Parts: sequence; C-alpha cells; structure tokens
Amino acid sequence: MKVLGIETSCDETAVALYGEGGVLAAEVFSQFDLHRAWGGVVPELAARDHVKRLLPMIRATLEAAGCPLEAVDGVACTTGPGLIGALLVGSALAGALAFARGLPAVGIHHLEGHLLAPMLEPEAPAFPYLALLVSGGHTQLVRVDGVGCYRILGESLDDAAGEAFDKTAKLLGLGYPGGPALAALAARGRPDRYRFPRPMLDRPGLDFSFSGLKTAVVTEVRGRVPDEADRADLARGFEDAVVETLVVKSLRALEITGLQRLVIAGGVGANQRLRQRLAEASAARGASVYYPRPGLCTDNAAMIAYAGHCRLVAGERHALPLEARARWPLDELRPPS
Ligand code: KG4
Ligand code: ZN
Repeated sequence: MKVLGIETSCDETAVALYGEGGVLAAEVFSQFDLHRAWGGVVPELAARDHVKRLLPMIRATLEAAGCPLEAVDGVACTTGPGLIGALLVGSALAGALAFARGLPAVGIHHLEGHLLAPMLEPEAPAFPYLALLVSGGHTQLVRVDGVGCYRILGESLDDAAGEAFDKTAKLLGLGYPGGPALAALAARGRPDRYRFPRPMLDRPGLDFSFSGLKTAVVTEVRGRVPDEADRADLARGFEDAVVETLVVKSLRALEITGLQRLVIAGGVGANQRLRQRLAEASAARGASVYYPRPGLCTDNAAMIAYAGHCRLVAGERHALPLEARARWPLDELRPPS
C-alpha cells in the first residue's frame, strides 16, 4: 500500500510517499525566510504559503518516487494539533484528493508522527519504549506501547523546551528559528561561566518547567549589552541547564518504568549536546538510545505517511472532510480500528 502523507501543522510544508519498503520520496519546505522578519511564525502567512506550495510539492514527490497519482492507495494528513489555518490547508487538500480518487484517508495526530518517526530508521526500536518528545510546542515523556498506545508520564507545565530555546535566542539577538542558532553559539561558550537553575530537578515526578530558566537569563542580561563572547557563555549556560534537566528526567522515567529503550523525538532532538549527554547517561544505565536522523526529528511528512500507513493497512478510515483540530490531547488516541 502506497500512502501519500501531508504535513502543514506549522511552518513546514511537507509531503512524502511511504510504501512497504520504506519512504519512497519526501519533500520539506521550511518557511523560515517568510517569518524571520516577524521574529516568529505568523499564522496567516503560514497558511497562505502552504496553499501556494502544496500542489507543486505533491507533484514533485510523486515524480521523484516514479509513482503516478493513480498508483497511490491512501492519503494521510496531519489534522492536529497545530495552527488551525495551516492545518486546514493540508486537511482540505488531502480530503479533496481522497474524494476525487476514491481513496481511503486518515487524519494523523502530529505528535503520533513524531513518536513513530524512529520506526523509519533501519535500526528501529521494538515496543515498548520511552519517548522524550521535545519540540517547539511540546516537552513530554511518553510511554509508547504500540501504534496508538501512548501514556504521558510527564510534561512541561509552561514553555516547551524548543520554545525556551527560541525565546532565549531572541533575547540574545539571534535570528529565527532560535534553537539551532543558540546551539551553534553555545558551542563556542564556556561551560562554567554561568550556572542557571535546573528547573524542577529537586522535585519528584517527571514534569518540566522552563519559563523560570528563561527569566533567569533575562535577569542576567538586564541593563547591559553582552558582547559576543559573553553571549556565547550565556548560550552555553542556558543549553547546559536545559540539557541536564531533560537528561535527568529521562533517566528518572527509565528508572520508574523499567523500560530499556529511549527514543528522542521532535525538533530539539537535533541538538547535539542533548544527544551526546543522553547517549552517555543511558549507556551508563544499560539502556539504548534511538535518535531519528535530524530530518526525521524536525517536522516532516515521512512520519505522517508512516503513521497513516500503519492505520490504513489495519483498516482504519476517517470520514471526509477530514476534521482539523488546533487542540487534540494525545491521550485521546487509540490503536488502529
Ligand atoms: O518538531 P519541530 O520541528 O516543530 C514543532 O515544534 O512541532 O521543532 C522545532 C523546535 C524549534 O523550537 C527549534 O528552535 C528547535 O526545535 N530546534 C532546536 C535545534 N534544532 C531545532 N533546539 C535546540 N537545538 C537544536 N539544534
Ligand atoms: Zn513537530
């Protein structure tokens, strides 16, 4: 079964084709340049750009896979959570395609895509595993027992880790998106110059909080303009605090659940220091860490096509038009039906 996947939940337009043998072709377009001048994603601009890009990208993906539209067997599209205007573009087009060609269609939860992304790697983890989902909108520790079987063990009570990276990057005068820029700056900073608080590490449980850490950086730079070297030190101090918090809570979750496999998912999973520290800490505990390659960590449609494939081959079908939801709690998901 060949499934066309579409992802337009935020500021990436993505299309992929997934078949039994794996990802047959995939395209991603990031709207960074469009939003940069505004310092963040402008929802209406995002939606308008998805409208402009989506059809040519579907054509390019099918061409790259050498697969005509007539040979597609099903359609999967992210229908939430995300920016509603952006989600509606993908959902409406996916629904129209399915309607016109008489194909089965499923709406996919964006985070289910991220949670299953490691399955696209040659060394895929077996179920059950623990996933650390760290993106611009979410920071969660999730127990994954199978497709559609997700239990949130802990999550951020305020800012998501990626959001904290982005806000702190803005504060340090870095461009948008801030996460990769801040990580690059931190690579040149000294680890011992600033020690920022490690939020909620002293408390039991698996929840996170990052807004206080961001405030600590604001307080540190108040009333002065840090020079380049100082900004690198601040970036390093911030990154170390976020990374240590994520590592300690992930290990605590492994401890509590007894799970032996840890998957890193979401855009912040592209952070090299986080990867390195988690690998060291997990190895010391005898657990294996699985990282999807960076292109599968950030938003993409391969993960959506894969999740859709799992559900469609099990016989799941969603009514047209596909319903887009800005908010959609992960624990509402069920195994394919
Ligand atoms: O999963 P994603 O592509 O989009 C969603 O939020 O769903 O994640 C984007 C987030 C942004 O906040 C971005 O700044 C962050 O991931 N990010 C990083 C790095 N690369 C992307 N944060 C820290 N270090 C990175 N290398
Ligand atoms: Zn995402």
